[in-house]
This record gives sequence, C-alpha cells and structure tokens, in this order.
Amino acid sequence: MALNPHLIRRDFPILNRKIYGKKIIYLDNAATSQKPLQVINAIKKFYETNNANIHRGVHKLSDEATDLYEKARETVASFINAEKSENIVFVRNTTEALNLVAYSWGLFNVNPGDEIVLSIMEHHSNMLPWIKLAEVRNAVIKIVDVDDYGRLSIDDLEEKITEKTKLVAITHMSNVTGVINDVKKVTRIAKRRGAVVVVDGAQSVPHMPVDVRNIGADFMAFSGHKMLGPTGIGVLYVSEERLNEMNCFLTGGGVIKEVHYVNGGISVKWAEPPWLLEAGTPNIAGAVGLMEAVNYLRSVGLENIRRHEIELVKHLLDRFADEFKNIRLCGPLDIVDRGGIVSFTIGLFDPHSTAIFLDSEGIAVRSGFHCAQPLHEKLGFTRGSVRASFYIYNTVEEVDFLVEALKRIVQ
Ligand SMILES: Cc1ncc(COP(=O)(O)O)c(C=O)c1O
Repeated sequence: MALNPHLIRRDFPILNRKIYGKKIIYLDNAATSQKPLQVINAIKKFYETNNANIHRGVHKLSDEATDLYEKARETVASFINAEKSENIVFVRNTTEALNLVAYSWGLFNVNPGDEIVLSIMEHHSNMLPWIKLAEVRNAVIKIVDVDDYGRLSIDDLEEKITEKTKLVAITHMSNVTGVINDVKKVTRIAKRRGAVVVVDGAQSVPHMPVDVRNIGADFMAFSGHKMLGPTGIGVLYVSEERLNEMNCFLTGGGVIKEVHYVNGGISVKWAEPPWLLEAGTPNIAGAVGLMEAVNYLRSVGLENIRRHEIELVKHLLDRFADEFKNIRLCGPLDIVDRGGIVSFTIGLFDPHSTAIFLDSEGIAVRSGFHCAQPLHEKLGFTRGSVRASFYIYNTVEEVDFLVEALKRIVQ
C-alpha cells in the first residue's frame, strides 16, 4: 500500500510548529530526520522504567537494560540482513563508524605502498579518515571520478582498483546529488582484486531497502539520527570475515573478559567483538530509540519510502523545468538511481542567501558544501549549492510551496 504522508505527519509533533508564523516545511532530512512520537516515547519509557547500566549488574534493572540494548542490536542486524547481531557495533554516528574502521582495522592491515581507493563524491567523513590513515601508514590515495552529473565512473573505478588496492571506500548514496551507486558491482570489482570494501550507508539505509550480505560489503556505516532515531547512536556493520581482524581502538570498561595482576604486571583477556569495540558505557537509551525507529520504518515499508521519495523528486524536477530557466542542478537531471535529494543553485543567488530567504518562509533547506567540497568543485559549484532533501512526512504540497517561494526570490 502506498505511503500516506498526511497520516504519517500525525506522528511527528515538531511538524505542527510554526516558524515566523508560517507552517514549518522541513526539507533538511539528509542532515537529520525528525523523530516520531513512537521513538520519543520509547526513550522516555526506557528512562522511566528500565534505566540502568548494562552488562555490569546482576540486578533486575540492569538485566532489563541489557536485554533491550542487545535486542536493539538484533533488530538492526535483521534490518540490514547482517549474518548475526554480533556483526553490529554501536557507535555515535557514521563518522565514528568510518573512523573506527580506519583505527581498528586500517592501522593494522594497511601497509606502506598499499592503495586506498575512494570516490570524489564522498562526504568528508568518508574521505578524511582514509587521508589520515594513508598519512600514518604511508599508503597511497586514489580518487575515482564522476561524470558531469555526479555519476560514478565505473571505467575509472575499474582502472583505479588494482592488485595493490587494500581498501575501497564508497558511498551508497551521495548526500549532494542523491546519486545511488551500484555498490554491489563496486564490491564485485574490488573483491576480484582482493580489496576490502567500506560502504557509507548514511543516506541509503534510512531511505531504501539495504541488504549488506547481498551487497557483499565488508563494512557499512550509518547514523540513527538520519533514520528517525535519536542523535548519538550509529552503526558499524562488520562482516563475518572481518570481525576477528578488528582490534580494540578505545580501551576501558566493557572490552575485556578478565584483567589480572600477574608477577607485578597486568595480563588482559580481551572480549570478543562487537563488545571489544564498545568501550565504556554506551548510548543505551539511544539504541532503544533506534530500535523503535527501525520498527517504525519497517511498518511503513522501505520500498514505499523509496517510491514516495521518487515521486517527490520527480515532481520537483518537473516543476523546476516548467517554472525556471535559471536553475542549475548539482547532480542528475532525472530520477534514475537517485534518492530523495535535489541540490541546485538559482540564477546568481548565493546558496546561503537563498536558504536564508527560504527560512523566512518557514522552509528549512541546507546550503553550502554539505561536507562534500571536492564534489562541488568537480561539478563547478564553487559557492556550494542549496539542498532540498525529503523523507516520509514530506508532501507534494510542500514541494509546491518550495517552488512558489523560489519564484518569489526570482521575482
Ligand atoms: C553520505 C554521508 N556520510 C556521512 C555522513 C556523516 O554522518 P554523521 O554526521 O551522522 O556522522 C553524512 C551526514 O550528512 C552523510 O550524508
């Protein structure tokens, strides 16, 4: 059954707010999503009834909190079709997940002269950890190009991935152009040459069905806050093959089985992953909120979400074509293999000025480089772009409001 955004909106109290006396139109979902009552209430209920530290106490509350936290792990694992719940590491966000790969796996497996391949369309979070890793390990960075519409060049990828490639880092969906990469194909090419693949799923996992085993990724990172969950909880999926290659990055409580005082020194028996990678008290309430968010997304249906966003993007692109001569799209002109993101500039207007004007109309969009400056430069958007990004509660009427507001700017 098709998704009904008007019904869904009832679950999102923030959407009733007025900004400058106008109904809020929230089109900054690629930055973070709004949260439904179900998620807000699950977090509230946790603090009201189950709050305690996990894996530490033998008392009832600690047991309940531990069960909820581990149930959240199972829920996330089945959501992305991971092998088992142990393949899910809870972190703060996508950025931390990608850095965790660099520090827990990369430092120990990437050697001088090895090559790390990434694309020009990466968010800085999937670029800088690899630049840093290459610096520390004397590895070589290779950048895969895109065409004029921001689509990945598979020919260039085939050329850049060689026998020397140790790691390929690729986004599933660009947070600027909305381009969806065929990460299954990328993985197939990389595996043929023995490379490990890290997929940045920050924009894909919230918006479309994602099956990590079908993709064949070694690692996949995503953030709870972009998928109706709270801030401060994110996920690193680690494949079965890589799990035992992970080293402890942060050490402390929770990452050991035993620590002994032996002959004047300390002897350590480390825990198994994923617990080995979750030092200290984690964001327990955040995991509970994320579990509820996953349940919510599943009840709406990821296929339905994808279809709804395609409809909104199509409507916006059609209206742009009908109404404006001076809109420049930063990304594809069509809806093929593209998520619910449209970045653009209008006339000679600076992106920030456009966004400030839209804000005065109650419309929230993002402006600037969206943490992807190299891609903007490559596509010739040296001042950045304005980005409208959609989610389940956005409506065709809101898209029309955006277009009417932009028309007022031009006038
Ligand atoms: C493609 C992509 N990767 C990584 C990130 C970083 O996510 P976070 O800020 O939650 O760590 C984002 C956030 O916008 C993103 O869009």
